[in-house]
Amino acid sequence: MTATEARRSESTQAPSPVLTFEDVVLGFEGVTALNDVSFTVNPGELFAVIGPNGAGKTSIFNVLSGVYRPQRGTVRFGGEDLLGRRPHAIARLGIARTFQNIELFSNLTVLDNLMLGRHHHHPYGVLAAFAWLGKAQRNERANRRAVEEIVDFLELAQWRRLPVGLLPYGVQKRVELGRALASEPKLLLLDEPVAGMNLEETEDMARFILDIRDELGLPMVMVEHDMGLVMDLADRIMVIDFGKPIRTGTPKEVATDPDVIRAYLGEEHKVDRS
Ligand SMILES: Nc1ncnc2c1ncn2[C@@H]1O[C@H](COP(=O)(O)OP(=O)(O)OP(=O)(O)O)[C@@H](O)[C@H]1O
Ligand SMILES: [Mg+2]
Repeated sequence: MTATEARRSESTQAPSPVLTFEDVVLGFEGVTALNDVSFTVNPGELFAVIGPNGAGKTSIFNVLSGVYRPQRGTVRFGGEDLLGRRPHAIARLGIARTFQNIELFSNLTVLDNLMLGRHHHHPYGVLAAFAWLGKAQRNERANRRAVEEIVDFLELAQWRRLPVGLLPYGVQKRVELGRALASEPKLLLLDEPVAGMNLEETEDMARFILDIRDELGLPMVMVEHDMGLVMDLADRIMVIDFGKPIRTGTPKEVATDPDVIRAYLGEEHKVDRS
């Protein structure tokens, strides 16, 4: 058994999940975004969610981070019930996310964007951000040190004093990952971390995601359309279609499941990457 297989089999047997998402139903007028979705994430596990456009992947993240409130279901994280909590309260419990479309302050430097990640109440608007930065710069040397560690970890040193808006797309995605890490989360949600990246940027990002799991031991939920990346990196995968899970298992189990092949993988090369 290889080290990866050993870890996978350990992680599938782990008794006490970090995250339990159970029987979640989320509907909007005329659309059922999530139709009885259940999964768990184990300590240190990289759990991937795949499915066609509109399948409900981002909706799972929006439920997890308190943006959407489902009509039914249970979501527990580290023993706490998440439903009904506001986004900042959930962030304070230790869930951090990156977004499908980058959400950074493009006029601020890499360092300042990472500093903002140190703050669990995300400041709304640029004025609030500047006010908080002023305070952080006066009071929080420890924050600076933590941010410098992230700069080293994600190899961002050459860009650290540049405004994020000037950086190549792949580097901006990496800064966003850094901003999420800066909050010292206990669970990381990655929404399409390599979408729109070239091959080299994708390989870099894959390496950082592996480092986060293997060196920091941080559990992650990753939504991604890049099937090669998901098959290579994930410990377990949940396939959803029209808001319904089709199959959850190891990459091997999922890739050989007849329902998955019929509903999704068979159309792999037709998947819309928009
Ligand atoms: N705020 C909302 N109001 C109405 N419908 C919504 C809302 N958010 C999501 N939906 C609908 O819920 C379904 C699932 O959307 P979601 O964004 O979760 O899909 P996704 O799997 O992330 O898709 P993609 O791969 O395109 O990012 C879609 O039909 C979408 O239109
Ligand atoms: Mg999405």
